[in-house]
Amino acid sequence: MPFELSQVLEGRRGENFRLHSRYVSPQLPRVLQTLGFDRFYDRGEGCYLYDSEGRRYLDFLSGFGVFALGRGHRAITGALHEALDADLPNLVQMDCALLPGLLAEALVSLTHPGIERVVFTNSGAEAIESALKFARRATKRDRILYCDHAFHGLTTGALSLNGGAEFRDGFGPLLPGCEEVPFGDVNALAKQLARDDVAAFVVEPIQGKGVNLAPDDYWPAAQELCRRHKTLLVTDEVQTGMGRTGKFLCHEHWDLRPDIVTISKALSGGYIPVGAMMCSAEVSDSVFSSMDRAVVHSSTFSTNQLAMVAGLATLQAFEEEDIVDRARRTGEAFAKALIPLVDRYEYLHEVRGKGLMIGLVFGEPTSRALRVRWKAIEAMRTALFSQLIVVPLFHRHRILTQVAADNMNVVKLLPPLVAGEEEVEYFVDALDDVLSAAQKGSALFFEFAKTIAKGSLHRSRA
Ligand SMILES: Cc1ncc(COP(=O)(O)O)c(C=O)c1O
Repeated sequence: MPFELSQVLEGRRGENFRLHSRYVSPQLPRVLQTLGFDRFYDRGEGCYLYDSEGRRYLDFLSGFGVFALGRGHRAITGALHEALDADLPNLVQMDCALLPGLLAEALVSLTHPGIERVVFTNSGAEAIESALKFARRATKRDRILYCDHAFHGLTTGALSLNGGAEFRDGFGPLLPGCEEVPFGDVNALAKQLARDDVAAFVVEPIQGKGVNLAPDDYWPAAQELCRRHKTLLVTDEVQTGMGRTGKFLCHEHWDLRPDIVTISKALSGGYIPVGAMMCSAEVSDSVFSSMDRAVVHSSTFSTNQLAMVAGLATLQAFEEEDIVDRARRTGEAFAKALIPLVDRYEYLHEVRGKGLMIGLVFGEPTSRALRVRWKAIEAMRTALFSQLIVVPLFHRHRILTQVAADNMNVVKLLPPLVAGEEEVEYFVDALDDVLSAAQKGSALFFEFAKTIAKGSLHRSRA
């Protein structure tokens, strides 16, 4: 009998969490059950997910930013169906296929002069791995600088550039020669670069873990220092790129011209794993320096046809729907609607970010009664307060968001870039309700405790 997806989905309905607990890992199911996030999603459309009971959820996580165009974008799914039906010869390998050439051409045309070549990858982390290798080969140096709180992926090389101990612990020794510098600190960077032995400074234009921004004047100074000391500047745009911050690449906010740029996430509209490392011809030629070295850096699936088709269709949809400028405009309207909440609610200290990468920063309130409550919550677990926002946003208003990082009271919003006035308004009203409940006190805390208790009970029975 041929494989039938609909039959499998129907026949095994509801077994999701049991299967993951048994065959993948029991930890994520435990977390989701504890928080009451254990839903059975049936489908997605635009900015929304729908569960098995037909309930609608506003998805402000967008698959960690991959669904920039929203879910179920017809132009992407149509292009993928067409590619499958055409049954084009995929991954011939001893071949130069047209589609990767076209996607590379399109990406080069969208970046600054000096970016001339593209290496396709299967993920963001693999794009970073490529950047590390190319930078070392091109400069004949081995040291790499990265920032505190940085996140560049979890493969071993990328992990060597991770600024959070919680990710690194127990996986060492990691790549030698990688050193941390404080994000946004020009003097610290200058000190390290002065040794003239650094191959690359790898940095996120806005850090994903915490939605941290450096001062505006940091960027030109950092670029100038890198140039002076012949260190390659690598901007990791895996999360910030592809319109997320209201520019195609976030570093355009500061008119930077980095030597290497990595992208991934939204490049295929969320459908097929893909990433890209983009660099100059000179850097590329230092790796592919002779016919003997034609395949010295490659990966079997990296130019797979479905990823390339989805990438081309995504870039076309970006242009036709004016996605980048739309993200900028919606981002501005969103920030304008959120900022008044900072004055109204003591717990909300700051709204930061750019475009549709937004961090809601929570902190200790000023009034005595609220401070006592804040301290009691934080005593239970550092940064527990941000869960007290994320959980009721989900349960009361069916909005999916995330805590930006471990040990940080920052809630991160990554809406699809097609989100508009309706979604912004719905979110702001919902946050207003949750913050007002948090300010008033006991009901929300009781609700939160009940969710956690119910989740724990559910777990112990599972
Ligand atoms: C800035 C940045 N770089 C790299 C990565 C790693 O990408 P991937 O998960 O596709 O390996 C991420 C993932 O979130 C990221 O945010």
